[in-house]
Amino acid sequence: MTEPPEQPHRRRSHTTAHDIERYAGLFAERTHGMRSSAMRDLMAITARPEVISLAGGLPDTSTFPPATFAAQMTKIAQESAAEALQYGPTEGFEETKDCVLQVMGAEGMLPDPEDVIITTGGQQAIDLITKTLVDPGDPVICEAPTYPGAVPVFSSYQADVIQVETDDDGMRVDELESVLRQLAAEGRRPKFIYSVPSFQNPAGVSLSFERRLRLVELARAHEVLIAEDNPYGLLRYEGEQLPPLYQLEGGDYVIYLGTLSKILSPGIRLGWAVAPPPVMEKIVLGKQASDLCTSTLTQYFVREYFSEGHWRDYVESLCDLYRSRRDAMLDALGRHFPPQAKWTRPGGGLFIWATLPDYIDTTDLLAKALRENVAFVPGQAAYVDGRGGSSMRLNFSASTEEQIDEGIRRIGQVIWEQVELYETLTGEHPAPPQRDEKPADNVLPMRKRAEGG
Ligand SMILES: Cc1ncc(COP(=O)(O)O)c(C=O)c1O
Repeated sequence: MTEPPEQPHRRRSHTTAHDIERYAGLFAERTHGMRSSAMRDLMAITARPEVISLAGGLPDTSTFPPATFAAQMTKIAQESAAEALQYGPTEGFEETKDCVLQVMGAEGMLPDPEDVIITTGGQQAIDLITKTLVDPGDPVICEAPTYPGAVPVFSSYQADVIQVETDDDGMRVDELESVLRQLAAEGRRPKFIYSVPSFQNPAGVSLSFERRLRLVELARAHEVLIAEDNPYGLLRYEGEQLPPLYQLEGGDYVIYLGTLSKILSPGIRLGWAVAPPPVMEKIVLGKQASDLCTSTLTQYFVREYFSEGHWRDYVESLCDLYRSRRDAMLDALGRHFPPQAKWTRPGGGLFIWATLPDYIDTTDLLAKALRENVAFVPGQAAYVDGRGGSSMRLNFSASTEEQIDEGIRRIGQVIWEQVELYETLTGEHPAPPQRDEKPADNVLPMRKRAEGG
């Protein structure tokens, strides 16, 4: 039998205005508010090997021992190949729930397994709760800045997103209180308050204990749900652990979102949500419609991995590695950024948030930085209304200490060029801002550049 001649794959040239017109009338109303996650766009550029990327939120998966991975997958293949290759229940396997309950237990939470659903990453959990709760125009409250990956979710469900300022102690709950009062006066009930209270993405700050208590109190008083997104709670490099909102509140008004992405692997796509039974019922229906179930193979891998009993040792090893990288980045910032810049000093997580003088636009700056083969996430990605234009998110988990130093040096250089240009054009030489250090439990103060360097 002769082989058919090999057909080359069709490569599409760039989309033309005509192409866009051809489909435009078909798009659903909700697509008009859809925005690409800036991080996903950046990922394509930063995949080039010569680029030092401080842009992604990637954990360092090269630290996971390949031999452990191989042994676990081999065991699955030998002992339960047929089951691992099959569909599973929409809610997830009981054994997987046991694993995520161990993770929650490590932060003092003990939910009922019935209240848990296993999801395809934490991102799907955000999507599912928004799909379950939000109609077009419904208010959703979140932090300013907020997780850049949540912004496209909220906009695709046409939520009216209201952002509440954060400072070194996380969300300003006094401002939240005013927002809640204002909405009540307008007869509008926010569908949920989305918060990343521990080592936030992107700012790196944590909500203080007092504010956690007050936030929970406000949620109860106003009968508003909180969506607590906590991928980073266990990646703590110093200070005391703060209780999650779920633990403080008890789970009536808190929907908890978790993921193994940052403490095991984002490639396995395993997250979860914990919600009160009536809400969970709808979330399960929503997941059924989305993808039927989370990968069975992934769940079998997780089960094997947890059965070895060393998952906490691995998290500890990640903490040691990321602590050193955070310190390397803080040190590099002190040496390479101009004195007009300030930045957070996170006690955990993966990110530092830097703010430059307001005449510098970090989206423009990124184009210049990319020419120097270095990338960061411009601050605007973390806002729905164009704010954040002078800020940037810097990731320290995915690069070596040498790459971090070189990457910050290159970004520092393009910032210095902007500062000098501004000073030349305006004749102004603004005094560097004063340091305003103040003690905090687990978050070092939002810090101005150290003197010297
Ligand atoms: C706050 C927050 N929530 C959710 C996610 C999504 O994680 P996953 O990989 O589990 O989908 C991330 C990832 O960076 C995150 O930072």
